[in-house]
Amino acid sequence: MIKIAVAKGDGIGPEIMRAVLHIFNEAKVPLEYEMVEMGKWVFDKGFNNGMTPAAKETIEDLGILFKGPMETPKGKGVKSVNVTARKTWNTYANKRVFQTLHGVDTVFSKAGIPIDITIVRENIEDTYGGIEHMLTHDVALSRRFITRPGSLQVIKYAFEMARKKAAKRITCGHKANIMKITDGLFLDIFYEVAKDYPDLKADDVIVDDLCMKLVTRPDIFDVVVLTNLQGDIVSDLCAGLIGGLGFAPSANIGDHICIFEAVHGTAPDIAGQNKANPTALLLSGISMLRHLGLMKVAAMIENALLFTLESGIHTGDFGNKEIPALGTKEFAEAIIHNFHQQPKQGAKPNLEDQPPTQTKFKLERNPMLESIEKENEVIVGVDLFIESNEQPDAIAMKCLKNAGMKFTLVNISNRGTQVWPTGSVYTNLVNQYNVRFESIDHEPLNQQDIIGLYISLSANFKICSSELLNRWGDKNAYSMAQGQ
Ligand code: NAI
Repeated sequence: MIKIAVAKGDGIGPEIMRAVLHIFNEAKVPLEYEMVEMGKWVFDKGFNNGMTPAAKETIEDLGILFKGPMETPKGKGVKSVNVTARKTWNTYANKRVFQTLHGVDTVFSKAGIPIDITIVRENIEDTYGGIEHMLTHDVALSRRFITRPGSLQVIKYAFEMARKKAAKRITCGHKANIMKITDGLFLDIFYEVAKDYPDLKADDVIVDDLCMKLVTRPDIFDVVVLTNLQGDIVSDLCAGLIGGLGFAPSANIGDHICIFEAVHGTAPDIAGQNKANPTALLLSGISMLRHLGLMKVAAMIENALLFTLESGIHTGDFGNKEIPALGTKEFAEAIIHNFHQQPKQGAKPNLEDQPPTQTKFKLERNPMLESIEKENEVIVGVDLFIESNEQPDAIAMKCLKNAGMKFTLVNISNRGTQVWPTGSVYTNLVNQYNVRFESIDHEPLNQQDIIGLYISLSANFKICSSELLNRWGDKNAYSMAQGQ
């Protein structure tokens, strides 16, 4: 018996979890479940991260969490327990499989276009850090971290997974044409890793083009790897291609802890009514069984599910309206009734069981993921973000007066567009500028020089935020303003 942690979740969570565990029990899946306290109701009991200390300990001991959807309490300052769980336990890859399910009608199934797309979404970084500040009353800032080690973890996982499934293509979705440093880093790492996988066809598509191609030719894609937010949006798009959120499973993969859950949320509109479709959670559970090496029982249950769908049996959210919809419980019973049946199309092969993928061990300290040696790092300037409602020329005059002997004012931008020394009066302004200072003759600077400039400029402006301008070897480690 393998022991795993189970959290039933909120809203429809308890109903669909009950249905799935009932299917597992009837299939004699060799799992033992330890129920843990997580979710909205745990927030309500006063635990700010939505889980009890005992739940955290159990999950860290067992390494596998099977969870129902959880509600994020409304209101500022409260973080989603779903995102907290993925980030705390470094489940860096979010794998979401979208496959044509016969019996679930979509425009593509009707047109005979098969879909089998696996989205691998980076799960820790990006704007999902939720690191946000109001810089002025008019201007909000979100910090977007894309890191080399974080990107390496998820991209290596995507290539490994693509090789295992003998994928015909692995694609990086990105917006590196605009976000040259953040998405550019992700894309560079994609091609660095690709060199170790010459057997796989690796290419990249800009994310907007990717969305257009996915809705016109979904059959040309296989594995797609993306940063967090883009991956989130593109995976819901893919859920739409195969019939909706009720069919979209997800696995959050880390080196020590993995979380299996449906993509959908708590569906408060149908909670407690025995109407929810348990398919997405069941498919997530089936992928967990495969992760644990339980290949035979996984294939048996999946084939029973596919046979059930193919027979036209459905819950209220899909299927032929002329055939009465079943409730959650009855749908689960229908699947149990169809154990050992084979669907006519897309039957899953009966593979031998394998040792579990998971390597579980207790960590003594937080792993530090440093991936690259520092080379020739020099500070050559600073971007100071200042609050002001003055015109660019007036700001420039004050800045020049305060620049001192070591700095020169290079440019001023507003919302990323240059407005000084050249610009257009048609560029609308908000009350927050970026004034960029560089060292005279590119002389190396130190932090004291920057602090000196900061103090001198603070006599005239409120400085909301600042960033060092670094050069590494012959490369600028910062972006240019639009029009610079
Ligand atoms: P939702 O996914 O809960 O619902 C969207 C629509 O899809 C609703 O009409 C719902 O009835 C339907 N739906 C979803 N799952 C279904 C199922 N299994 N069977 C039949 N119909 C289904 O998204 P919404 O309303 O935006 O979020 C509700 C709550 O869920 C929020 O508190 C949100 O934060 C949370 N949430 C949690 C997630 C998680 O635990 N991983 C993921 C997404 C949202």
